[in-house]
Amino acid sequence: MSARKRVGVLISGRGSNLQALIEACAAPDYPAEIVTVISNRPEALGLERARKAGIAALAIDHKTYASRKTFDAALNGALCEAGVELVCSAGFMRLLTPAFVEAWRDRQINVHPSLLPAFRGLRPHEQALAAGVLISGATVHFVRPEMDAGPILLQAAVPVLAGDTPDSLAARVLEAEHVIYPKALALIASGQAWVEGEAVRFASPELGRPVFLAEQ
Ligand code: GRF
Repeated sequence: MSARKRVGVLISGRGSNLQALIEACAAPDYPAEIVTVISNRPEALGLERARKAGIAALAIDHKTYASRKTFDAALNGALCEAGVELVCSAGFMRLLTPAFVEAWRDRQINVHPSLLPAFRGLRPHEQALAAGVLISGATVHFVRPEMDAGPILLQAAVPVLAGDTPDSLAARVLEAEHVIYPKALALIASGQAWVEGEAVRFASPELGRPVFLAEQ
């Protein structure tokens, strides 16, 4: 097997998507390894998850930087120092500067808990319930300077059920995130998916099939 791609994961909190990636990377034939986890919040639970898995975990507290520009420069420096080739944002709650995004163009992906381009930004589940949609889901996409925008790599759909609250819908969608994020990272790390123009291409069509998660 060719060398595993070196991945840096950016988090801000709980880190359940990070955990899904850590577990996927444990498989001997997984094409990526996490070499560093960086949180902009020192108290993020995800840092503990990383350390437990023996992965270098680092807090870069945005509050100690004078500007987004200097914070992003520190973030970029840490990723480069760790020899990172691909960046995964996993519940990372900071907007990145265009310069950072450009530096990692087509090498950075994000997971968002809605079927993009619907319900970008904060509180996507409140937005979905307010809109009355019957299906929601999760999206993994390449990162662009606009929030929750960029070429779509994988999506998973889940039903919205009668009586759903933002929390119950979030829990259902989170399971979908945990399914597609490791799959999406594997696709780009193995070179089976890539960006052409502003669309994602797959080495074979079945690799880009949507995932449908039935009612739990
Ligand atoms: C996920 O729903 C992610 O899509 C969103 O924030 C949540 C983070 O969860 N951006 P976790 O930290 O991965 O558990």
